[in-house]
Amino acid sequence: MEQKDILNRLWIDYSSQNPSAKKIHSLFGSEGETVENDHIAFRTFNDSRINIGVLSKLFLQCGYEPCGTYFFEEKKLNAVHYENKKTPNSPRVFISELILENFSPSLQKTLRDTLNKVSEKEYNQNELIFSGNIWGKPIFETYQKLREESEYAAWVYVFGFRANHFTVSVNSLKKYDTVEKVNSFLKKNGFVLNSSGGEVKGTPQELLEQSSTLADIVEIEFMDGKHKIPACYYEFAKRYPGPDGQLYSAFIAKSADKIFESTNFYKK
Ligand code: NI
Repeated sequence: MEQKDILNRLWIDYSSQNPSAKKIHSLFGSEGETVENDHIAFRTFNDSRINIGVLSKLFLQCGYEPCGTYFFEEKKLNAVHYENKKTPNSPRVFISELILENFSPSLQKTLRDTLNKVSEKEYNQNELIFSGNIWGKPIFETYQKLREESEYAAWVYVFGFRANHFTVSVNSLKKYDTVEKVNSFLKKNGFVLNSSGGEVKGTPQELLEQSSTLADIVEIEFMDGKHKIPACYYEFAKRYPGPDGQLYSAFIAKSADKIFESTNFYKK
């Protein structure tokens, strides 16, 4: 599969499920901006059937290579970011995985039981990253229980394999060329930002500034009824050149840690 087809397919699924992202994207368009993606992020578990290595396969086939590894102690996550240096303007791909053995036996059992519902073959298929929740209708009570230990685990349990967020490259915007300008534009248009750790995460000295919307609240059909829960969010990133004159290309764990909270449960 070609890279642009992969990205289009991910965008179509993500933007149709998350109307705010679609609206923001077209708002920028109507301001004469051309939106480029800084990165696209995925979430998974460190189970060998679906870990980072498995999710990265399709990207490696298109020429992506691993460029940085990260560890999030509090959220108990590993992550790797990938870049495709052969294709100019390729978005980075950021894949994180929950370290299951660092959680309670009950959380581990719930998730392993969920994973066991599907055969190895389904996990091996090339299109896994587009497949969403392949485990069948989730149970709201299980979702709530997972959330007590990890919002991240609960999110993957319900939404499965899809882009968790796309990220607008603020460097590619002309009029809205700072994260602050993007943020006030979004607020003026009625969008709610993730303010955990401040609306802007990171500083020009750290060479990366980021912000994000709070995830859209969507109605999901659970086994035990319909419930409204946070889905995906839209992120904005501005990169600065380092001492070598090249734009900083990696991620800052302490900022990403706060960005992860954009899918925390909240009521609208
Ligand atoms: Ni991100």
